[in-house]
Order: sequence, then C-alpha cells, then structure tokens
Amino acid sequence: MNIQIINGPNLNLLGVREKSIYGDTGFEKYLDELSKRFPNITISYYQSNVEGEIINKLHEIGFSVDGVVINAGAYTHTSVAIADAIAAITAPVIEVHISNVYKREEFRHKSLLAASCKGVIAGFGLDSYRLAIENLINS
Ligand code: DQA
Repeated sequence: MNIQIINGPNLNLLGVREKSIYGDTGFEKYLDELSKRFPNITISYYQSNVEGEIINKLHEIGFSVDGVVINAGAYTHTSVAIADAIAAITAPVIEVHISNVYKREEFRHKSLLAASCKGVIAGFGLDSYRLAIENLINS
C-alpha cells in the first residue's frame, strides 16, 4: 500500500514554530516513527509552502497512490484551487490538522477542502496523521 503525506505552508517549521500549539517534534522525526509503526506501508512525504506545488503534487500522485493525508496549513481556509485538485483526483484524501482548529480563531473553523475529502481529523497533535493512516489501511 502506498500513502502520500502532503504538508503545506509553514509545516516545515514543526518543532520550531509556535511549540505551545504544534509541539516540539520536527516532522522528519515523526515520519521516521510512523514508517516504523507501519512497516508494510510505503509512506511518501512532500512539503511545500507554495500552493501551485501542492496542486502539482496532488495531480502527480493522485491517480496512483492508495490514499493521501493532507495538512494544507492555512491554505485549508483559503484555497479553492487545492479543493478542486482534491476533487479531481481518484485517491481518497483525508484532511488533518495538528491543532484543534475549532478551539482557535474563527477563520480557522472553515475548511474549503473538507467537502472534497473523505474525512477530517483535527486536534490530536501529530497523532492526527497516524489516525488518518489507520483509516486508509482499514478501508
Ligand atoms: C494547521 C491549522 C491551520 O489553521 C494553520 O494555518 C496551520 C496548521 C494545523 O495543523 O493545526 O498552519 O493546519
């Protein structure tokens, strides 16, 4: 099984950025733990701060992988173009957030992507990614 994780803007700064919200673990370290936890799954990782690059990645992998886990960061709340890309591909996509966006500023309560996704997982820290992968495996 092949699963693609895509992280959007500012998520390259995990472990450094606003630690009280996003924790102190960098994503590469977490990815290492994830890969060990799911030894039979190929987990690929892509991060970009650029909206168009995220869309290109969705187009590139979205017809061949078995599932996509996307944390589009702030683009979640603004990007019609990423929503359209998710709707265009055939792989199931799960939207994840590290923080509980519903406990935060109102502009974070709205996701433009969610309606095109299989489901949304938010608020479980980095464990949100594992929960999404568990779902893709079990379905
Ligand atoms: C985030 C929540 C977004 O509102 C924010 O812009 C992020 C991270 C999260 O994982 O909690 O960059 O997607």
